[in-house]
Amino acid sequence: EQREQNALRTAHEWAAKWYHHILMNTEHGQRAASYLRERGFTDKLAQTFQLGYAPAMRNSLAGFLEKKQFSTGQLERGGLARIGDYGAADLFRDRIMFPIHDARGRVCAFSGRTLDGKQPKYLNTPETPIFAKSRILYNLHQAKTEIRRSKTAVLFEGYADVIKSWGAGVLNGIATMGTALTEEHVAVLKRVCEEVVICYDGDDAGQAAAMKCLPLLARAGIRAKVAMLPPGLDPDEYIERYGSEAFVRGIVEAAAAPAAFRLHYARRKYKLQTEEGKAGYLREASKIVASLPSPIERELLLKELAGEFEVSFETLKQESNEVRQELE
Ligand code: GTP
Ligand code: MN
Ligand code: MN
Ligand code: MN
Ligand code: MN
Repeated sequence: EQREQNALRTAHEWAAKWYHHILMNTEHGQRAASYLRERGFTDKLAQTFQLGYAPAMRNSLAGFLEKKQFSTGQLERGGLARIGDYGAADLFRDRIMFPIHDARGRVCAFSGRTLDGKQPKYLNTPETPIFAKSRILYNLHQAKTEIRRSKTAVLFEGYADVIKSWGAGVLNGIATMGTALTEEHVAVLKRVCEEVVICYDGDDAGQAAAMKCLPLLARAGIRAKVAMLPPGLDPDEYIERYGSEAFVRGIVEAAAAPAAFRLHYARRKYKLQTEEGKAGYLREASKIVASLPSPIERELLLKELAGEFEVSFETLKQESNEVRQELE
């Protein structure tokens, strides 16, 4: 079994090298290379993350690996090919390839992005003996050093965000494989850091997903912060538009404490131009504040709310205290 796993890992190493070579050095890879360049992925980033291109042909990778003495059965069990009527057929075709490494830096899977809007946008390797999606954190093998040094990891939604942020100087960025954060991910993080900065997309889906991370991290005793992006942008797009400095200083380093994020998140439900909306929001905000254990934090947030909405601090405090008593 160990031998089979080693063979699958070796096949993945070869596949990653081969996809990368096609992207960087061949005619076949040129369309993908210019797509990446236009999106701001430099050659240096493409090298650091070993990006590649899977040609559109039916079995070019399978052909390459069969010449290296891998069996079609191995290619299938590794999730690199499927056995069809005409022999092995590559799983990934005409896609930009993102190799996925395990924590020790061994290639264990791929995610392939379409260039032309085909569905799915990203195709992942299925679960295999060397790849469990719910445990893997993209880029952990390279980010580990900086995560340990700073005791902080920056958690992104997408590979593109991790890579662009790396280019912007964020060397502790990781991402899940397009899935929600799991207990298993959190257990992995607990071993390497004390704090996680959640840096998800600025859209509703991203913000809702960020909310769901908070209890998981809290239960594990990991401090959380939430970076807030403008509604239409993800980190990759933000960096393209506003540059590295604005991203690092203005977004990552300005990440909010969970309570401030929850207050911000609650706002979107209310029409704050109306008295009714304001009152509704302030009642919910008082509840959020009431749930905080620290009296100092509670007082600071209530003062901020009082100032912004021109209600007296005493009124807000009274509201919040009533909720607190109900909680106790
Ligand atoms: P780009 O469009 O290349 O910038 O990707 P993105 O990372 O911005 O994509 P998005 O925000 O839509 O999704 C975030 C992450 O979810 C991606 O990096 C993938 O890991 C995952 N994902 C997105 N679309 C799909 C899909 O169609 N299938 C699967 N399995 N995962 C997906
Ligand atoms: Mn490698
Ligand atoms: Mn998204
Ligand atoms: Mn995105
Ligand atoms: Mn994106």
